Order: sequence, then structure tokens, then C-alpha cells
Amino acid sequence: MCGIVGVVGNSKAIEIVTTGLSRLEYRGYDSAGVAALDEAGDLHTCKEVGKLAALLEKIPAFTKRVGATSTAIGHTRWATHGEPSVTNAHPHVGTMGPFTLAVVHNGIIENHTALRTKLSASGAKFVSATDTETLPFALAHALQQGAASPLAAVQQLLPTLHGNFALVAMAQGVPDELWGTRRGAPLCVGLGQGAANYLVSDPLALAGICERFMFLEDNDVVHVTPHTIEIFAAGERVVRPVQTLDLSADASGKQGFKHFMLKEIHEQPAVVARILSAHTHATTRLPALEFSPTIAASLASATAINIVACGTAYYAGMVGKYYLEQLARIPVNVDVASEFRYRNPPLVAGGVFIAISQSGETADTLAALEHAKAHGQTILVFTNSPHSSMARAADCTIPLLANREIAVASTKAFTAMVLNLLLFALQLGLQRNLLTAAAVQEVIQQLRELPTQLQEQLEHTVPIQSLANNLATMPGRSLLYLGRGLLAPMASEGAIKIKEISYLHAESYPSGEMKHGPIALVEPGLPVINLAASNDGLLEKTLSNLQEVAARRGEVILIADSAATSQLPANLQAIVITVPTVHPLLLPFSFSIPLQLLAYFTATAKGTDVDQPRNLAKSVTVE
Ligand code: G6P
Repeated sequence: MCGIVGVVGNSKAIEIVTTGLSRLEYRGYDSAGVAALDEAGDLHTCKEVGKLAALLEKIPAFTKRVGATSTAIGHTRWATHGEPSVTNAHPHVGTMGPFTLAVVHNGIIENHTALRTKLSASGAKFVSATDTETLPFALAHALQQGAASPLAAVQQLLPTLHGNFALVAMAQGVPDELWGTRRGAPLCVGLGQGAANYLVSDPLALAGICERFMFLEDNDVVHVTPHTIEIFAAGERVVRPVQTLDLSADASGKQGFKHFMLKEIHEQPAVVARILSAHTHATTRLPALEFSPTIAASLASATAINIVACGTAYYAGMVGKYYLEQLARIPVNVDVASEFRYRNPPLVAGGVFIAISQSGETADTLAALEHAKAHGQTILVFTNSPHSSMARAADCTIPLLANREIAVASTKAFTAMVLNLLLFALQLGLQRNLLTAAAVQEVIQQLRELPTQLQEQLEHTVPIQSLANNLATMPGRSLLYLGRGLLAPMASEGAIKIKEISYLHAESYPSGEMKHGPIALVEPGLPVINLAASNDGLLEKTLSNLQEVAARRGEVILIADSAATSQLPANLQAIVITVPTVHPLLLPFSFSIPLQLLAYFTATAKGTDVDQPRNLAKSVTVE
């Protein structure tokens, strides 16, 4: 979703802002802009709709117009209030009397209508349809009303704002100073070397520029100059810890792959190996997730677990439910966060709540987490972003260890979620004396063979490519994905993946549900992708479902291991994609690869923007 970059004290301020914005492109946006102060302290802006490339074309002329500068802010906007347009793009500028400020902002100011009415009555001349534009006017108005400084204006404004947001402001005539604040959306200070400092929504924006960062807490207000960083909480000076981050792997580019998504699909063998090395014991070959004594006690006594997530993370949660119920015999409820947060579900005292999120910033998941926390739950977070808002709010964080995922459609983070959930369930099952050490070691042994198996799958993609070419050019625009047991959430994950990047409509159902409705969709030629394994005890049922599709002349596509495909009735015509035979608990991994690649190759055959699909964002920080 939106990205913020602010610079003070660096003579390459505009270049650093635009490079930073390009690093945040992956988050999804539909317009972009920069503002800078010239040597006289006058404010200039430059904005463009569409991809950053359109803005970059205007930057040489803008840089010439501004001349020497060391103060600049920039933004990539994902439209919420008002269409993507130059007028609605950030930075927004507001003038009241002698005061002019520019603001970039992520998130939503929920009471913007009331603010707009009040500020208009005081003379503010709004030009955009955005909630953001209220911010520079509100700050300028506070200064007009006697606020001692822009810092005081931000401090006065903050308690009046509703919603989740992060903002950075600069003021005309005040070079080398930036002000910022956040609530529910990330903002951090990048500590420059020498006389420069930075404010960004994501440290990745400063890869190669900074290694040390301070992550702001909710309702912190920050004032940054080239030599000073002042942070205030409730009006008092506070110090936030400095974290040193190595961003080199995150900023390593596509490494020869055509898209980040393809690179990330290919990284999965290494991700699995990394997780096993970090989260299993080298000699005992048992899971070794580390929990404090308090968390271990909560887990030992837990009688129910709530898992909450969105999108792909939700389907990982569905797989986790299966693991936890089968291996640790704990009842698990899985909810999409946007439902959980408003349903006010009864939560048992001493319950365990698990949030799963690649970004750790998804607004709905974060709000659900806060709700569970307020109701006395023990909060565990499975996230790929150990410095995220969710990680900071959690009682315990399980790092996914997938390294940065850039493509919007999640692949390696999904695999990392599922693997960490499996290790977690095995560990709980062992602690509860439901599993023997030998049984757990057997699964871990199979997991250790997984990187090689996944690598082999990645090297044999011809049948998937040819199926993808057919799907990309098929006359209809709909697909059905079916699976049972662990393969039911995998069917859903396959369907969301192809929807996200190829824009084909795809429905998913547990196979047994097909005859209760979706079968009405089956007509000659409708592609029905069935997932089946020979060793999960469900094959016979799945084969019956295939017959039901074939009888209605639907196009039967079977993704299955060879023992399962060999049981296909001889008269049944099907397109077959073979996966290796794996331990039944490992099915999500062997099926992920063909499902991800099918989505990827269909999208490339259709020529869509694979890494940044339309309307989607990598980190959804608004409701
Ligand atoms: C967005 C993305 C999905 C992703 C979901 C959850 O909707 O488009 O691909 O699965 O967010 O993201 P999270 O960061 O919480 O895992």
C-alpha cells in the first residue's frame, strides 16, 4: 500500500526520495509525488498518475526548478478517498495565512469530513477529494492560531485525528526539518551517516543509505533535523531503541528472473532449509521453537486457539487448523480478520490467539489482534516482518524466515507460514504427549528431504506451462478448484493466486461441497482443477467427484501424485499434472509449486503485471 520517504540534510534529497519510492513500488500504488524546498525555502511539488516511471520522467525538470535542496518528501499513493489523479496524489499542500505545509500520509483520517468542514469555515481552500489534504491545512491552521512550532502543531493535531495513519510534514521556509507521527501504520526514522536523517514507512526505502533505524510507537511524534532526532510520547521526550538491519538480501533485485514472483517461487527450497535449520534441533531432530516460560505455560494449558489472518495468510491458517487439531488435538477456529474484529466473538480466559501475516501490518489483522489482546488472550504472531506493528504488539513472535517478499502474490511467505505452523503443531503434540518423539522425527526427516523435492518440481514445469497457455486463451473466464482435507485450503490458495495475478475468476470448494451448489456451474469445457493424493485416505471420494465433473463434460484437470493418477478410470479424459508422493502432512508443500506456477504462467501468458497486479497492495494498511 502507500509508501512514505522523507529526507533532511542530504544534497541528493530528491534522488534519495525517488529511489526510495521505487523500492516501495512493490507495495502497490496508483500515483506518486515529491515535494522539496528550494534554497529560498519555497515549496515545490511534482506529481504524476500511474507508474513511478511517469513521475521519474518529470523529475529532471523538477530538480532543475528546485535547484540545490536537502529537504524532500515523497509518496506512492494507493487511492482510497478520490480517484487516482494528479490533484489527489500526495504531497498535499495547505496554506493558512503565512503558513504553508506539505504532507504525505498513509492510512485513513476517518474524521476528515468534519475536519474539512471546520477548516473550510476558517478559510481553507481544498482542491482534492482526499482525506489527506485536511492535514496540511490543519497544521497551518494550528500555527495560525498560535501553535509555537510545526512540532507543537502536530502534537495538537494528533489527538483530534481518528483512524490509522502515518504522516510526514514539511513547512515552507523551514529547511532541513521534518515532522511525523503514526498510529496503527508504520513509520520509522533512518539514522543517516553524517548530517542527514530520514523518515520512511518501510526501511527498505533506505537500502544502501541507512542501516540503523528507530521504529516509532503508536502516537509518537517525531521532529527530525540533519543532526537531531526528537521523539515525544504524550508530550514527553522518549527514546526508542536503535535497530541495525541488514537490507542487502531484501534489496537484491530479481537476480535474473523475469519477475520477483518467479524468483520467490524458486526461493522456496532455500526457505524450507532455512526454517528447518533455525526451528528444529540439529541433533534431536525435534522442533525447537523458543517460548518464554509464560508463553509455554499458556500453550500447555490452552483449550482453544483462534487463528486470524487475511488472504493467503488465512489459507495458511486453515492448513494450521488441520495441523493443530490433528497433531495437538486443540480445537482451532480460523477467521478472516475483518469478520473477527467486528463480531465480538466470545473469547475464553487464558485462550491463545494467533495472527498470521507476511507484512505484520495488515490493518484488519492488527485490529483483530488488539481486540484479542484487550480480552486477555495470549498473542502469538507468525510474521515475516519481525519489526512490524503486529510483532511489537505480540506476546511472542515466530519469525517466518522467508526473507523479504516483494511480489504482491504471496508464495514463499505462504510456504514459510505453513512450515512454521506444522513445526508448532508438532511441538505442541509432543509436549502434550500425543505424539512420540520417533513419529515427530519421522516427519522432520521427511521435511529435510523437501528442499530437494521442491527443487525437482521447479525444474519440470512444461506440463504446467502448457496448461497455463490453454487457460489464458480459453473462451470462458471461470475456473473451479476442488480439494479435500489438507488439499481443501490448498484449492482455495490456488484459486486466490490465479485470481490475483491473471484476473481469471476462480472459485474454490472442498470437493464434497461441489454437489451442494457449485456443480450447477459445470458445463462443457469448464476447467475444474482437482487436487488429489494417494495417501490421505480421501482419494476414492475425490475420484467420484471427478466422475461427476466428467459426466457433465467439464474439463477435468487433476493435480495428483502418480499413485493417485494411476487410479483414474481408463475412460476418463483428464489433463494430469503430477506431483511427487510425500508424507500426508507435507501435501501443502508439494501442491504449492504447481498451483503457484499455474497462476504465474497463466498471468504471463495473458501479459498482466505479475508483480504488481491491479487494485492489490502488498500490505493493506487500511480497512
Ligand atoms: C493482501 C494481499 C494478499 C495477502 C493479504 C494478507 O490482500 O493482496 O496477497 O495475502 O494482503 O497480507 P499479510 O501481509 O497480512 O499476510
